[in-house]
Amino acid sequence: MNKSTNISFVVIGASGDLAIKKIFPALFSIYCQGLLPAGFKIFGFARTPLSHKDFRRRIAEHLTCRYASTESCSTEISEFLSRCYYLPGSYESRESFLDLYELMRNQEQGLNTNRIFYLAIPPSVFLDTSRAMAGAGLVVCGSNPQWSRVVIEKPFGKDRQSSDMLTRELARVFSEEQTFRIDHYLGKEVTQNLMVLRFANLVFEPLWNRNFIESVHITWKEDIGVRNRAGYFDEYGIIRDVIQNHLLQILTLVAMEKPRSISATHIRDEKVKVLKSISAIDMKNIVLGQYTAGEINNNKHVGYLDEKSIPGNSTTPSFAAAVLKINNDRWHGVPFIISAGKGLDSRTNEVRIRFRSIPDNIFCDKPECLPTNDLNIRIQPDESIFLNIINKQPGMQLSLVETSLNLRYQSAFSTKIPEAYERLLLDVITGDKGLFIRSDELAAAWDIFTPVLHEIDRLKIKPEPYPFGSIGPASAARLVDRKLYS
Ligand SMILES: NC(=O)c1ccc[n+]([C@@H]2O[C@H](COP(=O)([O-])OP(=O)(O)OC[C@H]3O[C@@H](n4cnc5c(N)ncnc54)[C@H](OP(=O)(O)O)[C@@H]3O)[C@@H](O)[C@H]2O)c1
Repeated sequence: MNKSTNISFVVIGASGDLAIKKIFPALFSIYCQGLLPAGFKIFGFARTPLSHKDFRRRIAEHLTCRYASTESCSTEISEFLSRCYYLPGSYESRESFLDLYELMRNQEQGLNTNRIFYLAIPPSVFLDTSRAMAGAGLVVCGSNPQWSRVVIEKPFGKDRQSSDMLTRELARVFSEEQTFRIDHYLGKEVTQNLMVLRFANLVFEPLWNRNFIESVHITWKEDIGVRNRAGYFDEYGIIRDVIQNHLLQILTLVAMEKPRSISATHIRDEKVKVLKSISAIDMKNIVLGQYTAGEINNNKHVGYLDEKSIPGNSTTPSFAAAVLKINNDRWHGVPFIISAGKGLDSRTNEVRIRFRSIPDNIFCDKPECLPTNDLNIRIQPDESIFLNIINKQPGMQLSLVETSLNLRYQSAFSTKIPEAYERLLLDVITGDKGLFIRSDELAAAWDIFTPVLHEIDRLKIKPEPYPFGSIGPASAARLVDRKLYS
C-alpha cells in the first residue's frame, strides 16, 4: 500500500460490540505497526448519541498495546484517538449520511481519499443503510481514481434465496469487486496455515485422499451459553451461526485441490469447486441438540429455554453435527463430520484428520489392533498441530505406545500471533481478497444447507436435549462413529 494514500475507515454501527471490542482494537494494532497511511481517519456512525469525546473514551477502554512499548503506549493511544470522529444518525436516512459526508470532507486531508465502509450492524439494516449511503454520494464506483470498499459480516442471509437477494441488492450499491464478505475464522493464524501445511510439505499431500484418510472431523465447541446474543441466536441457530460459514470455510481449505497459484481468484475458484462437489445434507445425516440445565466447573447454568429472551417453546438447535460427503475422486467415501455446539464441556475449534489402519500390521495379529495416526490441527485456543504416532516404548521389550509429535505455536514461535481481525482489516486496506468470501462461494455454501434448514424449520424438529457442560447429545457420538452414516 502506498503510504501517502489517504484512507477513511467508516464504521456503521460504531456503538456496537463488534466495533468496540474487535474493529477498533484491530485498527489500533495495525496503526501501532506503522501499516496505516499518514492521513488515516476513523469515522463512527450509529444511532446512539455520543460526542467525539464519548466515542474516543469508549474506544480507549478496549485498546491494548500489543505492538507498542509501555513507554510509548499512551502517546500511541492518544494519537490514534485523535483520528477518530463520531456522528449519530439514522441508518436509513440520506440526510444523516450527507451530514457524515460533510464531517468526513472537513476532516479528510484533500480530495484523494479512499473509503472503507464497515457495516457492523444487524443484517436487517444492511440494505437500507447501503442505499442511504449511496443516495448521499458517499460511495465511489467505476473508473474513479479513488475507491470505496464495503465490509459485511455474516450472517449473509438465512438460506440460498435470502442470501441471493442480499447479494443482488447490495450489488446495486457496491460491486462484487468492492465487497469484502468477512468470516473471521479465515483470518485465524492456523486456518491460514492449512494451505501451507498441505501444499508446502511433500509429506502430507500424497496421503491426503481416500486411500489413506478414513475420516475428517471439524469440531467447534463453546462452554458458554447464548449470553447477550440470545435474540440473534434464537433466530439463526447453530447451523446458520457457525456451521454453514466458519466450519464450511475450514472444510474447503482441508478438502480443496491445489490452486494454480496463491492468487485470490485461484484459491477461491478451488474452494467453489469443492463446495459444489458436496451433496446437500439430508435429515438422516444430521443430529440437532439443545442444552438443558447443567453445570461446568461447579457453576450451574440454566437450560436454553430458560435463557433470557428465548421463547419457552423454541426449537432452535444450540448444537448440530452433520456428515458431509464430497463427491470427487479424492474424497469419495470419506465422511467429513462437522459439529458445533454451545454449552459444552470445553472451548475449542479443531480439525482432526484420521488416517486409516495399516492393513497388514506386523506388530499385532488383528486388524485395527493399534490406534490410527491422527493429525490434529487446533485453531483455538492454544494454536497447535500434533500428529499421533505409534512408537516403541523405550526398554528391553518390544512394547508399542501412542505418542505425539507436537507443534505448539506458543513455544515454537516467538512472534506475536495476530488477531484474525487485524489480518483481515489489513487485507481490506491493501485490497487482498484471498481471505474473503466470493458471491458464488457463498451461494454454493448455502446450497449444501438450505434444503435441510427448510425441513428443520417447516417440521419444527425438536432438538435432542443435552446437559449444559456435557459433550453434547448422545446421538451425535453415534453419528461420529458413523453408525448413522449412509
Ligand atoms: N460481535 C461479534 O463478535 C460478531 C461476530 C460475527 C459477526 N457479527 C456480526 O456483526 C454485526 C455487528 O455485530 P454486533 O455484535 O456489534 O451487533 P450489535 O451490538 O447487536 O449491533 C451493532 C449496532 O447496531 C445497532 N443496532 C442494533 N440492533 C439494531 C436494530 N434492530 N436496528 C438498527 N440498528 C441496530 C446498535 O447501534 P445503535 O443503537 O447505536 O444504532 C448497535 O450498537 C452483526 O451483523 C453481527 O451478526 C458480530
